[in-house]
Amino acid sequence: MPSTSHESATGVAVATAKWHARVPLRQAALAQIAAVLVVGGIVWGSGFASVDAVALSLIQGIIAASLGRYMGMDCWWIPIHALFVPGLLWMLTFDFPPTYALMAFCLLASLYWTVSRTRVPLFLSSRGATQAVANVLPSDRSFTFLDMGCGTGGVLSSLARTRPSGNYHGIESAPLPFLVSRLRAITGSGRCSVTWGDYGELDLGRFDVVYAYLSPAAMRDVWRKASSEMRPGSVLISNSFAVPGVPPALTISTGASDGSRLLLWRM
Ligand SMILES: C[S@@+](CC[C@H](N)C(=O)[O-])C[C@H]1O[C@@H](n2cnc3c(N)ncnc32)[C@H](O)[C@@H]1O
Repeated sequence: MPSTSHESATGVAVATAKWHARVPLRQAALAQIAAVLVVGGIVWGSGFASVDAVALSLIQGIIAASLGRYMGMDCWWIPIHALFVPGLLWMLTFDFPPTYALMAFCLLASLYWTVSRTRVPLFLSSRGATQAVANVLPSDRSFTFLDMGCGTGGVLSSLARTRPSGNYHGIESAPLPFLVSRLRAITGSGRCSVTWGDYGELDLGRFDVVYAYLSPAAMRDVWRKASSEMRPGSVLISNSFAVPGVPPALTISTGASDGSRLLLWRM
């Protein structure tokens, strides 16, 4: 049985929901295009004198990184901006067939397409976290369970096997993880279903237990939704991420080496 302790919900850094943070992809594209235009202007202004492509790409990178920073993008965008065009130029030297690039793009898009909007990438609950969730589920009566953003469905299929008295449901917005979790739900044991969509449009009042492993950026909205829709007596569980200003009723260590914990609120 995992150890339990009460603690404040303020320990996890919470990202501020600024407009610029909600649409980083649009801003990134803007910074890159503006930098390309500036470099194009330099080339044009020099009368198309022979200029070194690598030097130009580096100048473009520096301008894009500066613009990104000026627009208030997070500092981890700086190396991405600085190296994006030089990286493209470098890749061209390998003469890869363009289909490889297209395939890599499709794979990444099917995994992360919704991240620019949701700010929740795909990473999976550890075995310890799944076991800790199993430990708090009722074993003597039926219940309904939701994994909001179920990823590849590992939590659902494991719980459906070890706690068969539950009715499990997952919702996932990214195409490839959705397909994998749907397949696992169809082929696995227990009562388990998965739908493709946005958990924002799901009524949380249908569930006795709602599990979320999302990101700090999502927790304010999750709490707003949970507190207005979940029934009295139902339980919200967040893996690792706190709700700003709302201390959990219980914190449970998952025992995993990453130090993750479950935070529980009884509604
Ligand atoms: C950190 S992963 C957790 C996956 C799984 N719940 C687990 O614990 O292993 C979060 C998942 O939520 C999905 N997601 C994020 N926002 C979502 C939304 N608004 N609606 C549905 N799925 C969402 C992401 O695509 C991602 O696969």
